[in-house]
Amino acid sequence: MILIIDFGSQYNQLIARRVREQHVYCQIEPPDIELSRIRSLAPKGIILSGGPASIYEKNSPKVDPRIFNLNIPILSICYGMHYMIDTLGGKVEGASKREYGLAELKMLRSTGIFYGINTLTPCWMSHGDSASRLPGGFEITASTENTKIATVENSKKRLYGLQFHPEVAHTPEGKKMLRNFLFRICGCKRTWTMKSFIGKTIEEIKGEVGEKKVILGLSGGVDSSVTAVLLNRAIGKQLTCVFVDNGLLRKGEGERVKSLFKRHFRMNLRFINARKMFLEPLKGVVDPERKRKIIGRAFIRIFEDEASRIKGVGFLAQGTLYPDLIESRSPFGGPSAVIKSHHNVGGLPKKMRLRLIEPLRHLFKDEVRVLGKELGLSDDIVYRHPFPGPGLAVRIIGEVTARHLSILRQADDILITEIKKSNHYQRLWQSFAILLPLKSVGIMGDRRTYEHIVVIRAVNSRDAMTADWARLPHSLLARISNRIINEVRGVNRAVYDISSKPPSTIEWE
Ligand code: XMP
Repeated sequence: MILIIDFGSQYNQLIARRVREQHVYCQIEPPDIELSRIRSLAPKGIILSGGPASIYEKNSPKVDPRIFNLNIPILSICYGMHYMIDTLGGKVEGASKREYGLAELKMLRSTGIFYGINTLTPCWMSHGDSASRLPGGFEITASTENTKIATVENSKKRLYGLQFHPEVAHTPEGKKMLRNFLFRICGCKRTWTMKSFIGKTIEEIKGEVGEKKVILGLSGGVDSSVTAVLLNRAIGKQLTCVFVDNGLLRKGEGERVKSLFKRHFRMNLRFINARKMFLEPLKGVVDPERKRKIIGRAFIRIFEDEASRIKGVGFLAQGTLYPDLIESRSPFGGPSAVIKSHHNVGGLPKKMRLRLIEPLRHLFKDEVRVLGKELGLSDDIVYRHPFPGPGLAVRIIGEVTARHLSILRQADDILITEIKKSNHYQRLWQSFAILLPLKSVGIMGDRRTYEHIVVIRAVNSRDAMTADWARLPHSLLARISNRIINEVRGVNRAVYDISSKPPSTIEWE
């Protein structure tokens, strides 16, 4: 494995992606990681990431400097390189010439990191500080016009520094450089595959769970479905999945989950019809946060109730993914953790005194999809768009009523059917319909109508933190709009949402 020390760069997850693409496992850890833990992880190599701080700032992040004496190869990037140079006795200064954007890298050698790379190659720079004096044992291996010490190396100790970012697409030879580090310098093997992950994780789950029982909230989305199937392989009937029909689901959703998990995978599935528990207290409620709280509370009550029925239950399983884990603990994670806090269906584990089991916590979304396919899940589940926990309640602006739900369900079903038919589904991050409580005037036949508005929303995104509205073909939008207005009673107008995130959000509430 490769250990990545997180100095707060916005590109950290990208470094991890690049390493895993090479079938090498890697883990991102904060700088305050103990040396003993690094030893026990026994990485083949360490990457010190970039970061927004300047090495001379008072509270700039630092890792235990004894890391340089472990005899493990280290690749340090941008701030990481400044940290290495400063710690080992060199000098870093605020540069007179800052360098942002593309620069041409002139190589002084073609070995080590630069094996097989052209002597002139573009690289992506983003720094104010620069190294001005090297520590003993180091030499310069490449320069740019503005930055003489662009890359450094102590080949004896296998320590390397890159001022630029090899992980971004703007550094076209960056992948090759990382490959050289992984395979030529660290001697990694390409053994990280989903097959190996499944085998290892199943053993870990068995060891951790023992004879105890596990409960899992199954939503039918990618993450909880993959978690369910993986746990089912590991512990079979010790797992109970709880699917809650809260009355806020899309068309056919409950039936689909039942038939897949109960009939096909033959899992222990508790299918709870709790529509009343959600819809009654939602009566008359229009405030989005109150809706969320009511729904969150009802989920907790149902879970507590279900857990108390299972004798010997000791664990609550969740489909938490790696980006959530990194963002929620990173001291430099910015506002991401806060933005996402409302997405968890509030406080389940604490109240229930169950231990958490999160087998996907080191995976990225696209890896979870590969894993799902490896475990035999269909494309329909594996490529499913995210759906919020509070369901259609946050897609009906204003009061959630049976009639509003019925209208939205029909409109959403038409939209998704057409998006799938035109082969756009897998290319989009999310697509769905929203119902506005407003009414507008229309004309149908010879009669004036006064009916609801449906919003069509389709966005592209990598991680839901930012999103851009999708430029869907007009012909497709026309078909969706025609069908919704003609087929759904109570709707006489459809509009397309052309807002991006930020400043808008993906959902409307
Ligand atoms: P926003 O609307 O904040 O959404 O741009 C970002 C992503 O999160 C999903 N989302 C939620 N998921 N509970 C959830 O489980 C929620 O309350 C919730 N609100 C938004 C949204 O669908 C998008 O993928």
